[in-house]
Amino acid sequence: MRKRIIAGNWKMNKNLSESIGLISELKSKVASKPENVDVLIFPPYTSLETASALTKDSSIKLGAQNMHQADGGAFTGEISAGMLKSVGCEFVILGHSERRHIFGESDELINEKIKKALEEDLKPVFCIGETLEQREAGITNDVIRSQVEKGLNGVTENQLNEVIIAYEPVWAIGTGKTASPEQAEEVHKFIRELIETKYSSPAAEKVIILYGGSVKPENAATLLAEKDIDGALVGGACLKADSFAGIINA
Ligand code: 13P
Repeated sequence: MRKRIIAGNWKMNKNLSESIGLISELKSKVASKPENVDVLIFPPYTSLETASALTKDSSIKLGAQNMHQADGGAFTGEISAGMLKSVGCEFVILGHSERRHIFGESDELINEKIKKALEEDLKPVFCIGETLEQREAGITNDVIRSQVEKGLNGVTENQLNEVIIAYEPVWAIGTGKTASPEQAEEVHKFIRELIETKYSSPAAEKVIILYGGSVKPENAATLLAEKDIDGALVGGACLKADSFAGIINA
């Protein structure tokens, strides 16, 4: 049985005091969460150290939204894997569509970051997904195949154990348009098949694949009922403790 994961990507939201407020509320709600569900939060960099201290005595796990691929040096404004580890991060989101599309991150750069995160014992949440244009052109599977192959280039089967994949169709992010459970399942199943071909069937059986894109308490249960959907990467709905807890309980 694969573990269930509900992850909250806060994006560029919540200053320090707002972060403290949200985490305090979440902690009390998550105290009664189902045992087979892991809850992950990804606050902005400026709240990570405090979030780490606040979540220490809870089951909430912590990650960052991005990192640089170098160990350190003259990279003004960037943050390294080692720095994230030093403030208590266990996970890092890499290849999010906003990083790909707004900041121009390539598959090759994302691959470098994934390998660096793994080297440094940070678990990557590796995001992939097609745009609306690509879906309408009927090339969703080609896009996903290429993102998986390039993103995981050089990642060993052993290392893959530490990688979480997140399928986030770009057209569903922040738009209120969720993929239907069938549409999402079709791609999740395809991703699992790609992992089977690239690695092995045990690897495919084990790999956790999250769905992201307008997940809310109202649609979470039907999405999560699909065989190959192991959890959710939540944006907007994770910014309020009630709605995030609603998804966790779904
Ligand atoms: P929304 O849930 O706001 O659509 O965002 C999804 C997402 O990008 C999570 O990483």
